[in-house]
Amino acid sequence: METPFIFGKIATEKNFTDREKETADLVQNFTSLINTIIISPRRWGKSSLVNKAANLAMAQDNNLRICHIDLFNVRNEEHFYSLLAQKVIAATSTRWEDAIESAKSFFSHLVPKISIGTDPTNEVSIDFDWEVVKRNPDEVLDLAEKIAMKKGLKIIICVDEFQNIAEFADPGYFQKKLRSHWQLHRNVAYCLYGSKRYMMMEVFTDSSNPFYKFGNLMFLNKIETPCLVEFFKSRFADTGKNISDEASRLIAELVDNHPYYAQQLAQLSWLRTEDVCTVEIVREAHSALVEQLSLLFVTITETLTTQQLNYLKALIAGEKAISSTEVMHRYQISSATSITRSKAALVRNDILDNKAGEISFQDPIYAYWLKTEYFAE
Ligand SMILES: Nc1ncnc2c1ncn2[C@@H]1O[C@H](COP(=O)(O)OP(=O)(O)OP(=O)(O)O)[C@@H](O)[C@H]1O
Ligand SMILES: [Mg+2]
Repeated sequence: METPFIFGKIATEKNFTDREKETADLVQNFTSLINTIIISPRRWGKSSLVNKAANLAMAQDNNLRICHIDLFNVRNEEHFYSLLAQKVIAATSTRWEDAIESAKSFFSHLVPKISIGTDPTNEVSIDFDWEVVKRNPDEVLDLAEKIAMKKGLKIIICVDEFQNIAEFADPGYFQKKLRSHWQLHRNVAYCLYGSKRYMMMEVFTDSSNPFYKFGNLMFLNKIETPCLVEFFKSRFADTGKNISDEASRLIAELVDNHPYYAQQLAQLSWLRTEDVCTVEIVREAHSALVEQLSLLFVTITETLTTQQLNYLKALIAGEKAISSTEVMHRYQISSATSITRSKAALVRNDILDNKAGEISFQDPIYAYWLKTEYFAE
């Protein structure tokens, strides 16, 4: 039997819950061509949300095309330009003949090298002479706008893992170039998101950066408990099993409403359930999950300095006044400066999340492991 939960893949249809307001807002932004930036910690559901809103928006508007670009393995401008050109052409062509036609007719300075897969539905792959593109990036950057005007389309370009552009050779200059082109587009809008929350915040909320105030900022929240409870119950019921309200609430609580872990723990609980999932089963599944992840957590912990660990220990213990002399002494924290430094480094490494001064752990299972295993010894 197919298992009713998924994690690590895009959540669609029955696997997608909640986010009604975010979905409606994003669909609205897509159909009205408003630039959007989505910021959240890892695995809270950015890609799933964009995917859902994209499908709904395209169903509403026949002239809307949505193009998805993922920069997860893109480390230089060259790769970025060829991916952008390729995806824009693919999203706006119905057949590969159109794609080749576009690739030829929309460039005047650049001569694209085109190759097509053997299967006619395969995407067309496009490459350029890098030296020429470097001197003339405008044609690639404005390609979507030109195609949109010529074909009477609206285009949304969604860029995942956008923070990776900060690793290009001259990121400041590159960002300026992107922004100066993109802000002139009238028929194209951009949806930019990424899973390095800290870097995304820097790119979009620091007034000295070119992308400051580029569009609507959307901060994703975790999924609320009542939604998760309903979701677990219906997914269990779909497969002829049941889960008690108490057990459902416990799953949400143990993973601190983290979307990915919610599905993973629900899955582990479902696999252990014959008829009705109980609190005991959830606890057992949770222990198995912690066990499964412990090796990874050991590796992460080995990269931390003693001062960072001392600070985490105080946080985990729920200390409110960490910078008081007494607390610093108890946890062997050397100074208030050390706290500031540890906090900044842990936020940069995506271990902690700083939401308007409120510090929390990004990974609820890691926090649990530190508390019950690592610091308990
Ligand atoms: N709306 C949702 N309803 C239920 N589960 C969800 C939802 N959104 C995300 N999830 C769960 O979280 C997992 C991660 O989702 P997704 O890949 O969309 O997140 P992301 O923020 O893009 O992650 P990453 O930071 O790794 O890019 C999904 O596989 C699914 O298990
Ligand atoms: Mg994603």
